[in-house]
Amino acid sequence: MMFESKKISVHAPATVANVACGFDTLGFALSHPFDEMTLTLTDTGSVVISEITGGFDLPCEAEKNVAGVALLSLMAALDDKHIGFDITIQKNIKPGSGIGSSSASAAGAVVAANHLIGGKFSALQLIEFAMQGEKLASGTAHADNVAPAVMGGFTLVRSNCPLDVVKLPVPPNLYAVVIHPLIEVKTSDARKILKTHVSLKDAVTQWSNVGGLVAGLFMSDYGLIARSLQDVIVEPIRSILIPAFDELKQRCLSAGALGGGISGSGPSVFMLCDGLEKAQLVEKAMQAVYSQLAVSYETHVSPIGQQGVLVC
Ligand code: HSE
Repeated sequence: MMFESKKISVHAPATVANVACGFDTLGFALSHPFDEMTLTLTDTGSVVISEITGGFDLPCEAEKNVAGVALLSLMAALDDKHIGFDITIQKNIKPGSGIGSSSASAAGAVVAANHLIGGKFSALQLIEFAMQGEKLASGTAHADNVAPAVMGGFTLVRSNCPLDVVKLPVPPNLYAVVIHPLIEVKTSDARKILKTHVSLKDAVTQWSNVGGLVAGLFMSDYGLIARSLQDVIVEPIRSILIPAFDELKQRCLSAGALGGGISGSGPSVFMLCDGLEKAQLVEKAMQAVYSQLAVSYETHVSPIGQQGVLVC
């Protein structure tokens, strides 16, 4: 096999999953924050995670690390069993933040590896490999974070098995604002508290909103996007895990946000906005609410990340 290069660095973006009404289905990439990863091709047939910086307590054993597991899954699909990788990770996305920390590592690893081996795999295959990292992190191989991390933009996971992912258009000027209360919510815990059955009435509301949101993205109809950003199934249950969630949401809407909700499984909360100016007002509204609480937080204002994992 001919290799294009021996070493590659990538930026692997944070992502917002669920996007209110689309639990396990919708997601989008942010432009920042992102993890910085460097992969070196080796002939050891193994994955070595030589360094993880950023101040988090993350395992370096490949089988216990989301990037390692995603790479092992990719390597299992290769004929050449000598191919291996050495990785270093500068972790900028906090684990347990709800903005796709584990998916960034998994997606960054497989996209970088694919470049090193000459682009053997499709985006869909890379998402499937990265989903193994999600399975390790949360117990479920969901794709709503890894799909936008790999493909960029807004994505819809129509089916997990067989995997079917649709890339959706992003209206110009669409910004995301995210507040991350510095408390940890484990995705596995946030999934356990969900009900396994929903009423037909709620299901109708939810799938109408998913349809409305997708149509709003296609038509760049900000009003339709705003009306569709509603989650009647998951948010009422998970929002109890997030300090001052109702007040936060109300203040953001009053400040001009189109709408939003819990980012992934939380504790981050996202809002979508039409333009940078509105996004900055919404960020201020978020900060005003959280400044009154005894909870540390950080905020991010970002355009939708069109690129996904970016080769530097
Ligand atoms: N769809 C997943 C969940 C995303 O909400 O559990 C986790 O980041």
